[in-house]
Amino acid sequence: MRGLRDKRVVITGGASGIGAATAARFLEEGSKVVLLDRDEAACQRIRAELPGLCAAFLADVTDRKQVQHAFGNAVVALGGLDVVINNAGISVRHRFLDITQDEWNQVLAVNLTGVFQVAQIAASYMMKHDGGVILNTASTNGIMGYPNYADYNTTKAGVIELTRSMALELAPKVRVNAVAPGYVLTPMQRAEYSDEMLAAVNQKLPLGRHAQPEEVAALFAFLASDDAAYLNGQVYVIDGAETAGGLASR
Ligand SMILES: NC(=O)c1ccc[n+]([C@@H]2O[C@H](COP(=O)([O-])OP(=O)(O)OC[C@H]3O[C@@H](n4cnc5c(N)ncnc54)[C@H](O)[C@@H]3O)[C@@H](O)[C@H]2O)c1
Repeated sequence: MRGLRDKRVVITGGASGIGAATAARFLEEGSKVVLLDRDEAACQRIRAELPGLCAAFLADVTDRKQVQHAFGNAVVALGGLDVVINNAGISVRHRFLDITQDEWNQVLAVNLTGVFQVAQIAASYMMKHDGGVILNTASTNGIMGYPNYADYNTTKAGVIELTRSMALELAPKVRVNAVAPGYVLTPMQRAEYSDEMLAAVNQKLPLGRHAQPEEVAALFAFLASDDAAYLNGQVYVIDGAETAGGLASR
């Protein structure tokens, strides 16, 4: 990809799954990478796996002070900030009628308020300095209805609208886009789907399989690169045609 060498990149939720694969990809492109994650053991693991990382800072995106503190450290470690992959997220598989108030609050706190906090703190820095790129992780769940994830779906739809609104206000200095993956084989997906459920999903997908985290990472790298300089305020779906046909494809 053009223009990623020496770019200063922060990835939230970077210690696992899509975030970890994205960290590896940006390192491969010659970028400098800092991770923010709330899982200490996972941070230690990923630091050992990716020795090229500048740092992995512990921060819970629901806590504004922690995010602010971690971004302060990240900017020092990187010598600035050019790209933020706003990716930390959680999901809980439960029926709409069973969602407790605590679960609803927690999912919104991480997936929507957390994304807002990271985006606002990153954007304030970029607007005062040399601009940059912010990429938010949405989901096909923010575009279509899916059973058993009403709270999660709501947050991802919110991330898409946040992305569009930010792009309008922050242009031309900061580009903001969302990536909306379909089914990706990560620890999040493994935690909620048995082997039988994974196989049943694969059978329905036109490409016949889940995405690999590395395939989503490649889209992040492209959107952050100079080749994507005119891409702004959009949602890029990466779902192997899962949502291409609606009912007709079932
Ligand atoms: N796996 C999929 O099929 C899929 C599909 C569409 C979208 N997504 C989205 O992709 C993103 C990454 O998901 P994944 O599948 O790689 O999951 P994952 O569980 O493998 O990784 C998520 C990471 O986020 C971190 N995290 C969670 N809550 C946090 C918080 N409050 N503060 C800081 N870090 C936190 C976790 O510690 C973990 O390292 C999420 O936003 C998810 O909603 C995943």
